[in-house]
Amino acid sequence: MKISVIHGPNLNRLGQRKKEHYGVLTLAKINNSLEKKASKMNIQLEIMQSNHEGEIIDFIQIVSEKTDGIIINPGAFTHYSYAIRDALEDCLLPVIEVHLSNIFAREEFRARSVTAQACAGQIAGLGYQGYLLAIEGLQSLIKERKPKKT
Ligand code: DQA
Repeated sequence: MKISVIHGPNLNRLGQRKKEHYGVLTLAKINNSLEKKASKMNIQLEIMQSNHEGEIIDFIQIVSEKTDGIIINPGAFTHYSYAIRDALEDCLLPVIEVHLSNIFAREEFRARSVTAQACAGQIAGLGYQGYLLAIEGLQSLIKERKPKKT
């Protein structure tokens, strides 16, 4: 089983950026713990981070041919990128959206996710543990081949 993990803009700054919201772990450390968990579950991970909307869309289009599911934290694109939303919808794979912080307990603009509309589900507010839980959730969705909402 293959899962692709996409980290959106500014997530390369984890460890330094707003620790009260995003925790103290760097992206490299988070990715390391995802790799460890995935390998125990016999899942192959492909992980990318980009600060660019078009790069994320290109990646979704390319991996959709060769992956079984996607975990995405679209960062601020969550709140306004209809283009990423459309790419996720178009890929026809199960997708889980993850947010480190509880986007519903912060500024008003963060409470709206346009990208979650194209996802099977969303995990928010559990820090990096959200990604670990997303691997488990996605594995079940892939096994069940639960069709995503269209
Ligand atoms: C975030 C929440 C977004 O609102 C913010 O722009 C981010 C990170 C999160 O993981 O909590 O960059 O996606």
